[in-house]
Amino acid sequence: MAMLSTSLSAAGSKSAATLYSPPNFSGLRRSSCPKLENPSSNSLHLFDSQLRLPSLSTRRPCRAVVAMAGTGKFFVGGNWKCNGTKESITKLVSDLNDAKLESDVDVVVAPPFVYIDQVKSSLTDKIEISAQNSWVSKGGAFTGEISVEQLKDIGAKWVILGHSERRHVIGEDDLFIGKKAAYALNEGLGVIACIGELLEDREAGKTFDVCFTQLKAYYSTDAVPSWDNIVIAYEPVWAIGTGKVASPQQAQEVHAALRDWLKKNVSDEVASKTRIIYGGSVNGGNCAELAKQEDIDGFLVGGASLKGPEFATIVNSVTSKKVAA
Ligand code: PGA
Repeated sequence: MAMLSTSLSAAGSKSAATLYSPPNFSGLRRSSCPKLENPSSNSLHLFDSQLRLPSLSTRRPCRAVVAMAGTGKFFVGGNWKCNGTKESITKLVSDLNDAKLESDVDVVVAPPFVYIDQVKSSLTDKIEISAQNSWVSKGGAFTGEISVEQLKDIGAKWVILGHSERRHVIGEDDLFIGKKAAYALNEGLGVIACIGELLEDREAGKTFDVCFTQLKAYYSTDAVPSWDNIVIAYEPVWAIGTGKVASPQQAQEVHAALRDWLKKNVSDEVASKTRIIYGGSVNGGNCAELAKQEDIDGFLVGGASLKGPEFATIVNSVTSKKVAA
């Protein structure tokens, strides 16, 4: 059974379904919508055939007015990956310090480990620092690793875990990633918890299965003390660094499904509060349309985060969400 995408209302359909229950989340989401008289096959071409939700009856009705499903603050992270030199990072920091950023956004950048100190001491304190990885337990004889304690010591507040490059290039699995997340959270570091399907998963109709399995690993591996410090980053692997961004509808469909998963498996409160951000070829040109989607609570940005003014545009795309709401 396919789910409604925002394109239904965008296409101007006058129909709406009585079989759909009203929105459930407590954010700015609309509380009611017009009825779909005939949820016919006419509408089905608008659905992404690769995506499946377990039950249409649990889905929300329509999104003629786009609002924010979650109650969390918009969150934008810049993942600098293994890029930069002292010189280029000095320039990037200076551009970020000069940029006018909307105040109601949590902004985080993740420099390579070796530049964290430089960035921390020169970047405006309105932007927090994230690491791109952390060791799974207390530090010690682990050559080449960086511990959570060291990251906290140097002023980092966040760590990106489960990034597709660590899963698919370095070979980290769900169990290891889940343990790392539990350790970091227990030590008080926020976790940007990445998940996302490969192209072959999507083509096989397994997008939701893969994302739910990866999400579950953060939740069930070890004691997660609280969901307050987890931001979920949905990053379809086929969209990362490829220039092939997911359409706003494709991203929204997965984000809505992830929020439903949190609702069913954790709690209504966690589903509402947890930021679910999108990553994969986000740039200054496509961020506004993505930000309008009600379950997209921000972005994790790779390539475009290396350009200060463009990253600022992405941070400030929160304004399209506010206008749309
Ligand atoms: P990209 O990377 O924006 O360059 O696609 C996103 C990410 O890997 O977090």
